[in-house]
Amino acid sequence: MEKAYSRRPLERNIAMELMRVTETAAIAAARYLGRGDKNLVDGAAVEAMRQALGYVRMDGIVVIGEGEKDEAPMLYIGESIGDGSDTQVDIAVDPIDGTTLVARGLPGALSVLALSARGTMNCPRQFVYMNKIATGHEAKDVIDIEAPVAENLRNIARAKKRSVAEITVVILDRPRHEQIISEIQQVGSRVKLISDGDVAASIDAALPETEVDVLMGIGGTCEGVLSAAAIHCIGGGIQCKAWPRDEGEKEAAIASGVNLDNIYKTEDLINSEDVFFAATGVSSGELLKGVRYFSGGAQTQSLVMRSHSGTIRWIDSLHDFVRSGKTKE
Ligand code: FBP
Repeated sequence: MEKAYSRRPLERNIAMELMRVTETAAIAAARYLGRGDKNLVDGAAVEAMRQALGYVRMDGIVVIGEGEKDEAPMLYIGESIGDGSDTQVDIAVDPIDGTTLVARGLPGALSVLALSARGTMNCPRQFVYMNKIATGHEAKDVIDIEAPVAENLRNIARAKKRSVAEITVVILDRPRHEQIISEIQQVGSRVKLISDGDVAASIDAALPETEVDVLMGIGGTCEGVLSAAAIHCIGGGIQCKAWPRDEGEKEAAIASGVNLDNIYKTEDLINSEDVFFAATGVSSGELLKGVRYFSGGAQTQSLVMRSHSGTIRWIDSLHDFVRSGKTKE
């Protein structure tokens, strides 16, 4: 049975305020493009994001963040964030999705934020990875995370009125995906491998008229929830299933009451009629251009979405460091 989304709680489009936060994080982190140090990239983004979130008019709780309080000084799960206004919300942050991409100077890294009403975001953190399948509006009702790869691809092709050879699957380039990739090849669909960043890839798969039609494979659990937020805004669908790395993780998850057979659909990960999503490109990729610096400022490109209205905005911004009081290093 279809689950109903909870009532719409927010009156203003807070996504534009969120975009200012992802822009700030992207500008801070992109300075370290190709410098070979993931920690520098992440640290700069986290600090900038933490500071900028403090000005957003909300009473936010970090539901997806940098880890538990004792391991993350900032943006830890459960941290209160925002200026304390009475809009009570859940916040999911990924200051950089693709820290390795930025450290290695590779394309496709984003700074990402999602927001929804308090209590509507669900991140099943008992397992680090989930198996995922995500696609756009046309095929969202025919995907099935439990069905064989070939069946999914045939159904997606039919829904999109194309041949299977004209369907492109985006998937992380990992040894754990050898079997799935070989099944995709056998059915005759196209494969696009990415080295990191399955949030951007999920968005690409859900948006119309992109190079890819469906994301498949195992990636981060928290990234799955952020992807669900974006996909809900776009009107596509995602299905996920726990993928415990070993027996220990499996047993711990079961002991904490998790049903490993559970299928997490979009609305199980984010159950709100009003979801806000913002992402800014850090290194240029298919979805967004990366940060470009110029004398006294920088240029960014962001994607800003709100599920209630279905509006999807690509926003190019010019940032004047002198007039905004931000100094260049
Ligand atoms: P980070 O930016 O946190 O490194 O995540 C990048 C990423 O590629 C995610 O997009 C993806 O979900 C996850 O890592 C995959 O994990 P792994 O690299 O362990 O396969």
